[in-house]
Amino acid sequence: MSDNKKHIKWFRDSSPYINAHRHKTFVLYLGGDALESANLPNIIADIALLNSLGVRLVLVHGAAQQIDQQLQNQSKSWEILDNKRVTPPELLREIVQIIGGIRANIEARLSMGLVNSPMHGSGITVVSGNFVKAKPVGIVDGIDFQNTGATRRIDADGICQQLDNGAIVLVSPLGYSPSGETFNLDSISLAADVAIALNAVKLIYFSSEPGIRDSDGKIRSELQADITSPISMSPAEDYLFYLTSQACRKGVDRCHIVSYVKDGALLEELFTRDGSGTQITRVSYEQIRKAVPEDVPGIIHLIEPLEQEGILVKRSRELIESEIEQFTIIERDGLIICCGALYPFAAKGELACLVTHPDYREGDRGESLLSSIEERAKLQGLTSLFVLTTQSAHWFVEHGFVEGNVSALPDGRKSFYNYQRNSKFFEKPL
Ligand SMILES: CC(C)(COP(=O)(O)OP(=O)(O)OC[C@H]1O[C@@H](n2cnc3c(N)ncnc32)[C@H](O)[C@@H]1OP(=O)(O)O)[C@@H](O)C(=O)NCCC(=O)NCCS
Repeated sequence: MSDNKKHIKWFRDSSPYINAHRHKTFVLYLGGDALESANLPNIIADIALLNSLGVRLVLVHGAAQQIDQQLQNQSKSWEILDNKRVTPPELLREIVQIIGGIRANIEARLSMGLVNSPMHGSGITVVSGNFVKAKPVGIVDGIDFQNTGATRRIDADGICQQLDNGAIVLVSPLGYSPSGETFNLDSISLAADVAIALNAVKLIYFSSEPGIRDSDGKIRSELQADITSPISMSPAEDYLFYLTSQACRKGVDRCHIVSYVKDGALLEELFTRDGSGTQITRVSYEQIRKAVPEDVPGIIHLIEPLEQEGILVKRSRELIESEIEQFTIIERDGLIICCGALYPFAAKGELACLVTHPDYREGDRGESLLSSIEERAKLQGLTSLFVLTTQSAHWFVEHGFVEGNVSALPDGRKSFYNYQRNSKFFEKPL
């Protein structure tokens, strides 16, 4: 393929992503180390490119390396206790100055726009301000963290107004209290706080590593925020994974960890199918499948509380074991969160024991499981599904079932009908 053809193919392949990202809010994090990287001019150019494509961008920056360096030059030190910096008031002035310098440097770089492109000098507006309200960390385990602060509130409306105007919002790791005090903030967690407050679609951390690696050293392109068996991570990766998982749980759609060393890592992550780094997502991998004997404990765990409440008829372990093949389940990261059983009686099938775990209800899982059981029933040549229910009548009606008389129960089932439970009978043709 000639070079031009490759470009055209790449451009066409990336067009769905361009559409998907337009008008979406992304929060990007550039730590002090990334700001020292030789690749910084390329990253800045890529940020300007995203802005020109209509992505709403908030850039949170760090400053720890620059502050460390300057204090070291003056033979001063910046104390770290319990993984947190202690900021004495006498250092705060210097820290504010260094952060101000970094802010000005980023603004200047973004003002150059897209270097070597027709967009050069296109006039990107960069806005920074008092968007972060802070509170002191205070005294923890006897340690006074002085002017080290924590996020109290993000002025999401103020930031959104600037984004609406097409500006890139630059957030520095400083926060202000209502009493006028200035606090030095942990920039990495500030980025997550900003993304959560803005309900951002993406939170992207630039890291010295290209992503989170698995035990074979390969980059994991995707991780679920709620993985039950996390892979072993370095303390830095662990902290990023913790923050990104929290952000996902609190409404951010996707978080990404991309390299600040590799040229184009950000664009590759955003505009190609496989990406370049690690994507952390909220939605976990779920699978609908037929149950196997190993699922018996999980099914019992799911249905037992409903049996105790009298919503479902009690089934013994032995019964479930012997009927396990009738069950269909939804499994999420090893946890059974939805189940249902199908018992054929001549041409009809009974749908029974349909349950979604309370934490996962109202996510259309009951409906998906019903569809799957209907497919199973059709494959078995059944012509209708029926259900006996005491408390979920409306749910079944809303899913195409029609109330009938228990006399319509197939003969093989009629003899087991429990008149004491007085369940209603519903049927759905297939
Ligand atoms: C019925 C049940 C399986 C639905 O599971 P689910 O995964 O939440 O199902 P869906 O997400 O597809 O459907 C959710 C919708 O049904 C509604 N719904 C849930 N239970 C209902 C009920 N008993 N009556 C009427 N509507 C009900 C919800 O309000 C929601 O409505 P919405 O779409 O307007 O928000 C679940 O509520 C459950 O486990 N109930 C207890 C067990 C039970 O009664 N099983 C049936 C007897 S076999």
